[in-house]
Amino acid sequence: MEFSESFIKEHAPIRRAVIVLERMVLEAESGAPIDRHAVNALLIFLHYFADVCHQAKEETILFPALRESLSLKSAQVEDDVRKQLEHLLTEHTADRSLIEQTQLELFSENPNEFVGNARKLAHLLSSHASEEERVLFPLAEEILNSSQAQDLAMRIQEADARFGCAQRTLLMDMLKELESRYLPKAA
Ligand SMILES: [Fe+2]
Ligand SMILES: [Fe+2]
Repeated sequence: MEFSESFIKEHAPIRRAVIVLERMVLEAESGAPIDRHAVNALLIFLHYFADVCHQAKEETILFPALRESLSLKSAQVEDDVRKQLEHLLTEHTADRSLIEQTQLELFSENPNEFVGNARKLAHLLSSHASEEERVLFPLAEEILNSSQAQDLAMRIQEADARFGCAQRTLLMDMLKELESRYLPKAA
């Protein structure tokens, strides 16, 4: 369904950013000097794209639509979906806090300390996206009827329009630039 496809499509640049972050961590661990502004640019990408654009749509459009449709389902399905949503929301909160903590450590007196939280952040973003694709989106497609799904797709488009095409392009350019520097062969 269109709503799942649009979320899955946005997981791709998030995964690309995770690969860049992992490379930054490896470089820092090998003793190479840390370019705080480049790492910060990646964290800014994650803040605006992964959180403000992507996670916000899941939290304000998809999750509430799923909760609303649960009253018509069996108690078991209702319980499973509620638990799944709670778990994913906890991970969104953890992502936000890891981005913030990594940024603080990056600009502290010992920027090398950023590697621990950056590694946790990379792992969480990647496992979270895989879990949504494996469990949440198929479940949502099963639960929501086609008119609810169409309504979701429309509301996602409206949220994207509010986020702005120019801002999205700017963030994607930022990611490409970081990829060309940290993953020269892939860019
Ligand atoms: Fe999510
Ligand atoms: Fe997601």
